[in-house]
Amino acid sequence: MDTIVKKIDIEQCKKEDFIQAGDILRKGGLVAFPTETVYGLGADALNSDAAAKIYEAKGRPSDNPLIVHIAEKSDLKGLIRELPKKAEILMDAFWPGPLTMIFQKTEQVPYGTTGGLDTVAVRMPNHRIALELIRESQVPLAAPSANTSGRPSPTMAKHVYEDLNGRIDMILDGGAVGIGIESTIVDMTVEPPMILRPGYITREMIEQKIGPVQVDKVVVAKDISQIGKDNYVPKAPGMKYKHYAPKADLFMYEGCMENVISMIQKRKESEEAKGKKVGVICTEESKRNYSGPYVVSIGSRLQEDTIAANLYAVLRDFDEMGVDVILGETFYGDGLGQAIMNRLIKAAGYQLINADEIKE
Ligand code: TXA
Ligand code: MG
Repeated sequence: MDTIVKKIDIEQCKKEDFIQAGDILRKGGLVAFPTETVYGLGADALNSDAAAKIYEAKGRPSDNPLIVHIAEKSDLKGLIRELPKKAEILMDAFWPGPLTMIFQKTEQVPYGTTGGLDTVAVRMPNHRIALELIRESQVPLAAPSANTSGRPSPTMAKHVYEDLNGRIDMILDGGAVGIGIESTIVDMTVEPPMILRPGYITREMIEQKIGPVQVDKVVVAKDISQIGKDNYVPKAPGMKYKHYAPKADLFMYEGCMENVISMIQKRKESEEAKGKKVGVICTEESKRNYSGPYVVSIGSRLQEDTIAANLYAVLRDFDEMGVDVILGETFYGDGLGQAIMNRLIKAAGYQLINADEIKE
C-alpha cells in the first residue's frame, strides 16, 4: 500500500484538507494525525475490523486497548454507560486536552477497540487538526500512538513515516507536536479515581479539582520486580509491555548530580575502551562535563516541558546515530518530571543505577 503524506498548515486548516482522510476513515482505513501529545494512528472506533488494522500495522498485542478520541463532549453519550460527577468536573476543566478518562463502555463500542475490556478510554485532544479530522470523519477515532509497538512515540510526522510507511493509508503532517509525551490516564470507574499513566495533567492538577486520587503502583515502580509481585497486574494493559525503547541498551543513573556525572563519565570511558559507541543524555546544566559526538542535551532542568518535548526525538536520534549504549541522567521532579521518568525508566527496561550507592 502507498502511504499518502499530506501536509496541513495548522493556521489555515481548511475543510477541504480533511475530505480524503475522512473518507478513508469512514471506509475503515488508517490515518495518522497530530495531537497535542504525540501523533496518533486513527481508525473508526466503532468498527472492529478497522480497529484490528491498527493492531496489525503497529504489531501491537491485541489485549492492549485503544483510546477513543472525540471532538465534542456530546460524543461521549453513545460510548459510555454513565458520566460520574467527578469525570464531568475533570472534563470541564481539562478537555480539550491531554487527559484520558476510563469509563464503563456501551455495547456500541466493540471489544476489538477495548482489547476485550468492558471499559473504554476516551479523550478530546487539544489540536486543531485532530479535532477537524474527527469532525470530518463523523466517527470517534480509536488512536494509539502512531509508532511501531515498542518504539518511542512519534512527535513528528517523519517518525510516523519511518515506522509505518506502506502499512497505513495516510499521514497528516501538521508539524512537531507541543507536549511530546502521551496523555495522563485516569480510571473513573473506581473510587477514588486512579491515575494509570502520568502525563502533562499532573496528580496535583487533578486533585485540585476533585480531591484525592490514587496512583497505580506500576506508575512509580523503579524496579521491574515490583511490578510482577503478588500477581500484580498493571491496570492499563499497555504499561506492562517494554515500551518507548531505543535500539541501544539504555541505562539511567540516579543520585546526586556530582556522582551521576562521574559514574556516567567512567562508564562511558570503559564502554568506549571496549569499542562501543556511547551516547549520553544530559542537560544544558551538565553538558560541559561530557565530550564526544554522541552527547545530547535534552534541555534545561529548569524547563521540564522542553525535556518532555525532546524526549522521544532524542531516543530516535540515538537509533540513527547507531550508538550501542546510552547513559542517561534522571529527571525527578513533581509534575511533569514524574511523567518523564516513567517513560525513561520503561525505555531503559528498568536498568536504573544508583550512583550514590556505587560511589559509596
Ligand atoms: O496522548 C495519548 O494518549 C496518545 C494520543 C495519540 O492521543 N495516545 C496513546 O495511546 O498514548 P496508546 O495506545 O499508545 O496508549 C494507550 C494506553 C495503553 O497503556 C492502554 O493500555 C491504556 O491506554 N488503555 C486504553 N484503554 C484502557 C482501558 N479501558 N483500561 C485501562 N487502560 C486502557
Ligand atoms: Mg503508545
